[in-house]
Amino acid sequence: MKPKYKGKHFITLEDWTNEEINDLLETSRELKRQFYANEPTEYLKNKTAFLMFFEQSTRTRNSMEAGLAQLGGHGTFLDTSTMQISHGESAKDTAVILSSYGHGIAARNCFWGIGNRFLREMANHASVPVMNLQCDLYHPMQGLADLMTIQEVKTTTKNLKVSIIWAYAESHKKPISVPLTQALLFPRYGMDVTLAYPEGYELPEWVIEKAKKNAEANGGSLRVTNDQEAAYKDADVVIPKNWGSWVSNQSSDVIDDILSANRHWKCTGDRMALAKPEVSYMHALPADRENEVENAVIDGPASIVYQEAENRLHTAKAVMVMTMGDK
Ligand code: CP
Repeated sequence: MKPKYKGKHFITLEDWTNEEINDLLETSRELKRQFYANEPTEYLKNKTAFLMFFEQSTRTRNSMEAGLAQLGGHGTFLDTSTMQISHGESAKDTAVILSSYGHGIAARNCFWGIGNRFLREMANHASVPVMNLQCDLYHPMQGLADLMTIQEVKTTTKNLKVSIIWAYAESHKKPISVPLTQALLFPRYGMDVTLAYPEGYELPEWVIEKAKKNAEANGGSLRVTNDQEAAYKDADVVIPKNWGSWVSNQSSDVIDDILSANRHWKCTGDRMALAKPEVSYMHALPADRENEVENAVIDGPASIVYQEAENRLHTAKAVMVMTMGDK
């Protein structure tokens, strides 16, 4: 397996063409096959990546660490509260130093207005690929796994009706990066995307404009609505998930009046019944069970959340194999 995109940063899928994304997906499928066949996959033997986390993670951290081990390399987990970044060391100095110790740098930094700028600053100075493990704007690892999963369970993505739906949650004020990534990516694969949310949970206007352009160029569409029932109706895939009101309100408070007024935005069995009979339920996880979604739905036959989460491993490995190579 050749590192075809050796050195290319993975900060947003907007920087990757459909052809390049298709290469990543093909590599993901092959790595998944090899994982199940228990074949050795030491494509990154003796390679090291540094995994910087400003926030908590279950899937992202472990798919990267396990993935690197399975590829014959090593992932160094870095809790950034224990790094000199917490004393103000710059992104530039951090990127230059870590580049000289290994073969890849990955970071999760979801602070609003900061995370993506931090990753871009590291990428400007790193001599190894910088991978985004989720920032305030993008979650490309999740987007890639979501696309792989949809391609596995549906015969075609062309004019597939996919609804990204805001849902009520109380666990924490979540970034907008998952719905934003999906809204930009799915129309590029010809999907008919509905984005539904209550007033106050808008995505940035540039995202809507770009998503519409992506749709026009690839035969998909984007519809925006404040009507959740309309989003469920006749959908092939529903992705009800919470995100924070960051665009209009930068406070990190979890519960506020707007959130409390929208408790009824929940994925229920009744709403699922509005969708196509073969509808799939997706969620990047972690889910706020019984707030975002009824247990009967997330644990029910339409749910493909565990397949979606597993694909985080195969896609993360593909990104690393394709971008990290011999120095
Ligand atoms: N979906 C996702 O990124 O999960 P984690 O926050 O657990 O990494």
